[in-house]
Parts: sequence; structure tokens; C-alpha cells
Amino acid sequence: MVNSNKNQSMQAVQLSEQERSELDHMLEHYPVASGANIDALKMIQKYHGWVSDQHLAALASYMQIPIAELESVATFYNLIFRKPVGDHLVHPCDGVSCAVMGYRKVHQQLKQTLEINDGETTQDNVFTLIPLPCLGACDKAPVLLINETLHENVNPDHIDDIIQSVSEHSDSEKSAIKMESE
Ligand code: FES
Repeated sequence: MVNSNKNQSMQAVQLSEQERSELDHMLEHYPVASGANIDALKMIQKYHGWVSDQHLAALASYMQIPIAELESVATFYNLIFRKPVGDHLVHPCDGVSCAVMGYRKVHQQLKQTLEINDGETTQDNVFTLIPLPCLGACDKAPVLLINETLHENVNPDHIDDIIQSVSEHSDSEKSAIKMESE
């Protein structure tokens, strides 16, 4: 019974016209559909913020590949999200150079400031914490990527200020959007 309900809800999601059009375009560039797996998952995430079971099923059905194949790709890549994430993605680098230069303290402070563990999202849905391997800025280690902004030579004592400033920026953006819509 549980499975049947799940299947029914999984069948409820359909890819939009735009999504199907982008998929068709991607599939033209690969000899087999599974070559487009990552791009297809990224495309779903671009429109929905994450990849739900329902979208995974819709994608697999449209691409005519097994759901399990798409799921294993989504699980392997830690930047494909299988559950909703916050407005801001916080990625401390846990690569070797950053580990040597103080990642552990930066990471600890982030968890303390945000009051979450890795892979979790703050209760207000503002921040999600996901450590990533080498971000390609080893000479500036330890580094911290928040959305598209790379913070270099991060001092754990500055984490509170960094998070506070991202939070305030987010609040002011939301206020501006609210005022525009009024
Ligand atoms: S190990 Fe952190 S940027 Fe390379």
C-alpha cells in the first residue's frame, strides 16, 4: 500500500515544456542517453533547487534509462541535492592543503555558528552546510565558498561575521523583492 501510494505520487510530476526542450537538446549531443545524466540532473536542480524522487522518475522515464542509474549519479555527486537546501550553500574546503592550514577549526566554528551538521539546513532554511574537496585555491587555504563567493585565508574567529554579513545581505535582498512586488 505504501509503495502504491509512492508510485502514484511519483507519476504525478511531469517535465515542463522547457525542461523537455533542454533535455532534447542535451540528448542530441550524446550517443547514449546516459551520457547526459549529470547535465540532466543539473538542469532539474536549476529549475527546482533540488532533485526530488518524482523528478528523478520523470527524468528517467523521459530519457528511457533506469531510475537506479540516475540515482547512483545523483548520490555520487555531492552538488546534486536529493533534498531541499537553504538559500545559501556553505562549502568549507576539506582538501589536503586546507586541512593542513586549519580546516578543522573553520569547520567546527561553522557548525557551531549555524547550529547544524554537514548536509543539514538551518531551521530558517537560510544556510546548508556541505564541505567540498579541493576548491583550487590551495595557496589561500583554508578557504570557504559561500554561494559564488570564495573567502580566502579564513580565520575561525571571522566565521560569525562572514555568516552575519551573508545573512544581512539576504535579508536586504528579500526586503527589496518584497517592496518591488508591493
Ligand atoms: S585543498 Fe582547499 S583549496 Fe585546495
